[in-house]
Amino acid sequence: MKSADEKEKLYLSLQRLTENTIEDIVNRSVNHKNMNNHNDLNINNKYKVLFVCLGNICRSPAAQGIFEHFVRENGMEDRIEADSAGTYGGHRGELPDRRMRTAALYRGFALTHRSRPVSSLDFLDFDLVIAMDDQNYEDLMHLAPSVEATHKIRRMASYLKNSRMTYIPDPYYMGSEGFGMVLDLLEDACKNLFDEIKEGLQ
Ligand code: 4NP
Repeated sequence: MKSADEKEKLYLSLQRLTENTIEDIVNRSVNHKNMNNHNDLNINNKYKVLFVCLGNICRSPAAQGIFEHFVRENGMEDRIEADSAGTYGGHRGELPDRRMRTAALYRGFALTHRSRPVSSLDFLDFDLVIAMDDQNYEDLMHLAPSVEATHKIRRMASYLKNSRMTYIPDPYYMGSEGFGMVLDLLEDACKNLFDEIKEGLQ
């Protein structure tokens, strides 16, 4: 049997835990309402971008690596963060496809991300969720836990300035030229996305 003193301590720590949890939920929901503005940071005080493709071993980890390069180049690691995920979880834990790693490294981007499936909880953590193609976009729309969360979803191709492509093609079944072409598109889109976010944060 616990003493009255111990019970009192237990009660107080449970009360603190409950208050912290409620505060966290309120903060997350406030962040949810404001998620369309690039100057509204989430609870970690960082603007967070999630790149999503099918397997999370070709396009989205490459987009993440390229985007992170722009973040580092501009010394904004404490303000902007990126991650990537796949709508299909079959490659969970794997490094990016060797062909993509080789092609990216040739351009100076070392890809070290490990594949993971996207989750509906990602919509709470991230400010933007970026789909590589139309199927990824549809899958994310279905996964989003609320109508507000769907407003975080964007198409990667909407950031292209040097191409009229409306999606980032899947290079998985292409030859090595396919990987180079996809990296050209991703470099263009990442640069413009980064510039837009940076401007919004100033
Ligand atoms: P990603 O490419 O979606 O750009 O990562 C693919 C990787 C793996 C598969 C399909 C696409 N796959 O079918 O295993």
